Amino acid sequence: MRIVLLGPPGAGKGTQAANIVDEYNIPHISTGDIFRKNLKENTKLGLKAKEYMDKGLLVPDELVVDLVKDRLLQDDCKQGFMLDGFPRTVFQAEALDAELKKMNIKLDVVLNVDVKQELLMSRLTGRHVCKGCGATYHISNNPPANAGICDSCGGELYQRADDTEETVSKRLQVYNDQTQPLIDYYHKANLLKNIDGEKEIGQVFEDIKEILAGVK
Ligand code: AP5
Ligand code: MG
Ligand code: ZN
Repeated sequence: MRIVLLGPPGAGKGTQAANIVDEYNIPHISTGDIFRKNLKENTKLGLKAKEYMDKGLLVPDELVVDLVKDRLLQDDCKQGFMLDGFPRTVFQAEALDAELKKMNIKLDVVLNVDVKQELLMSRLTGRHVCKGCGATYHISNNPPANAGICDSCGGELYQRADDTEETVSKRLQVYNDQTQPLIDYYHKANLLKNIDGEKEIGQVFEDIKEILAGVK
């Protein structure tokens, strides 16, 4: 299964991706996670990406596209993959199409997780992420059993640097300007499936499974 997860910041892409890759046994490729990992390791790419991420802006296409191309050529992508947060611009979508064509493969589905703008701010400013395993929580929607501690691995929870009110506002604006056009792009390609991301986390996953069962 080759899946793209589309949706605004805070829609629940990462939350659902974790469920999907578990169920379908495919790699979870999140460009945001790749940049944050690079930053943690102080690589040149991580430091460059940080300049943009901290401002809520997109990292330039040329820094993202080659990275994803390389990732897709790795062996674990042979059975499929789950792209989360890529593509995010029409340029990236076209580059992905060209690369998949070269590889002689096609996307199966683009899941568009739809959540109205008013809900996104509180989802992001209340998000807590595990330093150890990356599991995602929310202080009120999806709290861990013990405050500040990950249920899965016991790791410490933290808030992302770009989850401040100011940066989230910018990220939402950037989404509307640069990423939302992809809904139309993939609708025209006949790949788009809309998911109501305002339902409870478990229900959203049930809806996704139903759609994926019909895809392949
Ligand atoms: P990235 O890490 O991809 O961030 P994002 O797209 O802004 O999305 P988020 O990860 O914030 O949200 P999510 O949809 O994954 O929501 P989550 O599941 O965590 O990108 C970060 C930055 O990296 C970008 O700003 C950019 O600078 C750069 N970047 C990355 N990719 C790039 C690219 N391709 N090109 C250029 N630049 C790129 O859920 C959010 C919260 O809501 C959690 O607390 C969760 O518990 C809660 N929640 C989830 N689902 C529900 C639900 N159904 N009901 C109630 N609460 C819920
Ligand atoms: Mg995410
Ligand atoms: Zn953890």
